[in-house]
Amino acid sequence: MTRATPLLLVLAGCAPEVSSTTPTWHRDVAPIVERKCSTCHEAGGVAPFALKTLADWNTYEAASLAAIRAGRMPPFPAKTECADYAPTQALLADQRAVLEQWLSAGKPEGKVEDFKPLPGAPDKLTRVDVSLPMKAAFTPTKSPDEYRCFLIDWPFAETKYITGYELRPGQKSLVHHADLFFLSPSSVAEWQRRDDADPKPGWECYDIPFGREGSWIGTYVPGMRGVDFPEGTGLRVPPGAKVYIQMHYNAAAGEAGPDLSTLDLRLESRVQKIAGVQALSDPKWLNRQMRIPAGKKDVTHRFDIDPTPVASIISEDFVDGRPLKLYATTMHLHQLGQSTKLEVLRADGTTTCAVDIPKWDFHWQLAYTLKTPIVINPGDQVSVQCTFDNTSENQPVLNGTRVTPRDRNWGARTEDEMCVGGVFVTQ
Ligand code: HEC
Repeated sequence: MTRATPLLLVLAGCAPEVSSTTPTWHRDVAPIVERKCSTCHEAGGVAPFALKTLADWNTYEAASLAAIRAGRMPPFPAKTECADYAPTQALLADQRAVLEQWLSAGKPEGKVEDFKPLPGAPDKLTRVDVSLPMKAAFTPTKSPDEYRCFLIDWPFAETKYITGYELRPGQKSLVHHADLFFLSPSSVAEWQRRDDADPKPGWECYDIPFGREGSWIGTYVPGMRGVDFPEGTGLRVPPGAKVYIQMHYNAAAGEAGPDLSTLDLRLESRVQKIAGVQALSDPKWLNRQMRIPAGKKDVTHRFDIDPTPVASIISEDFVDGRPLKLYATTMHLHQLGQSTKLEVLRADGTTTCAVDIPKWDFHWQLAYTLKTPIVINPGDQVSVQCTFDNTSENQPVLNGTRVTPRDRNWGARTEDEMCVGGVFVTQ
């Protein structure tokens, strides 16, 4: 076995050499387009047109090349030099090179039977064990934006572990994004009161559960088809918890109508490693000490923390003072975000990059799952950094007019700002 392994590796390494003459559509380009474009560009998908066949490609070639070369498509704002991500929606440098070679060779079609899907898992949830719909449909009435929270009963009387999720929006054109949580049994009553106080389904909300109040499950952005958590990890949900969905509806894109979204979950009765998901932000910012003066850009706010001594806040199952393993990150800023990153500053002065987004895009708040988890040792600091641009060129457009810059600060509404580093960790 030990002898055979290097030989197999050599053969596998050689295979593309031997057969790679000129790239063809079916063998080389179609698998890339299928995995990196068709996931959103399909009939009824989130993107405005389908992109799968060579005929589709020819129709949209000019626009597609422009979007690919400018880095707009596929949407993947993080630098791939920072870390290796898996699975990833990003078009990697060698895949871009194949496309360019195919173009310069005059776009040979090749043989249909040469098509093989790209290796590795696509970004999606692989199994659904429970589907949790919102209790009632809700029709957003505020334009353009409405934030609404919904509670869903947790249907299990025994402990379960969430090992993957997908939010299926009832109205794809209305759901701009959603944050998904579950509430600890001890904080359910407090949030339930807010729901009960509003006669319509759910309530208007800008808060999310922090610390021991509950746990993040993940985020939904358009085009996302769910995700399996890293192999062997899961979030422990005790009986008596409730699912908490914060919807950001945006009615500007289409006709408003009732939305009834459903959260699909993959579940296990036990996992090898209990995971915790937490939002990292400077507590001072929450007291409106994250000033972003009007007219200024390159305004940077940074928060460094050694999370190991307070690990039990991330998950009741974690023991304070032990190393943590970082598997994935999601950054959350609002519309004035310019750039953001999350890195681990080592006690020995070196730095390990987890995510680096040089050009923030409010519409593509992706989750970045690392191919190799980063170990955070006691004494290391997790550093969350956000830079904002509050000049007139970077203001959002509201009802057709560009907003005039004014001083901004921390707050949950779209017109306020945030700087959150979401981390998925185990011990
Ligand atoms: C995660 C979902 C997603 C993936 C993956 C994706 N797109 Fe898109 N694409 C969209 C959405 C949504 C829009 C419309 C909104 C926008 O322009 O951002 C769009 C718009 C476009 C447009 C028109 C607007 C523009 O920026 O020029 C082109 C061209 C395009 N996509 C090409 C591609 C190609 C080529 C790929 C694969 C290499 C790809 N897209 C992958 C979601 C996606």
